[in-house]
Amino acid sequence: MKNYEPAMSFGPEVAAGDPHRLRGDEDQTVAFLRDLAGDGPALELAIGTGRIARPLAATGVRVDGIDISQAMVDVLRAQPGGDTIAVTMGNFADVPVTGTYRLIYIVYNTIHNLLTQDDQVRCFQNVAKHLAHDGVFVVEAITHEALHLTDNQYVHAQSVEVKQVWLDVARYDPVTQLLEESHVSLTEKGVRLFPIVTRHIWPAEMDLMARIAGLRLRDRFGGWDRSPYTAHTRNIISVYQPHPGS
Ligand SMILES: C[S@@+](CC[C@H](N)C(=O)[O-])C[C@H]1O[C@@H](n2cnc3c(N)ncnc32)[C@H](O)[C@@H]1O
Repeated sequence: MKNYEPAMSFGPEVAAGDPHRLRGDEDQTVAFLRDLAGDGPALELAIGTGRIARPLAATGVRVDGIDISQAMVDVLRAQPGGDTIAVTMGNFADVPVTGTYRLIYIVYNTIHNLLTQDDQVRCFQNVAKHLAHDGVFVVEAITHEALHLTDNQYVHAQSVEVKQVWLDVARYDPVTQLLEESHVSLTEKGVRLFPIVTRHIWPAEMDLMARIAGLRLRDRFGGWDRSPYTAHTRNIISVYQPHPGS
């Protein structure tokens, strides 16, 4: 997508609406992560407005975060419990924090927001540097099948109301693995575009990234309810741990 800048996707308008965009699986996600966090601390890469970090911190574990969007972090700060979370501004590929964590996690397919394989590998390598010896790295990413591509593209009608229609429009390039997407709002007043580009990775590619970083797959599930990972899985939860020899 020519002239695309990742900052375009998480500006003040998106940030303001973000706390209302719950997915419905937050309780299960928090329970899953709480179980792995032990005595903590935990670190969320791309913490956003704290959809998961705030309820996780409310269970008593220390949660830190990293994000690149000041607008998202400003909204996080304004949410209940948001002012208790230490957030480092920066690129999560760098994991720009000090110290080690029992749990590092990245949810909502955000690993895909790094747009090159090099950046994604770098992220795994930097996570490995900040994991406690008994720590785990949890990644939630959607499968390729979940995109429902036909001829490497799709148009999904997300909502059709009297005064507004939302479309999700995308083209996928199998060579770069980049999905160029825009959420499109159509109203009487005009058209609004909310672009985002993501680089999609398969579980096997992710497992190799982990190996390069000295991590190994410990568990893989088809959802936060720990359902099995099968050919029908659309939402993959991968749990990596340091390889004893690394
Ligand atoms: C879809 S939101 C997810 C937020 C939160 N993790 C959640 O599950 O609700 C994606 C977040 O990733 C952040 N982000 C995207 N690319 C980033 C990067 N390279 N480094 C740090 N944060 C990034 C955005 O600013 C945004 O807050």
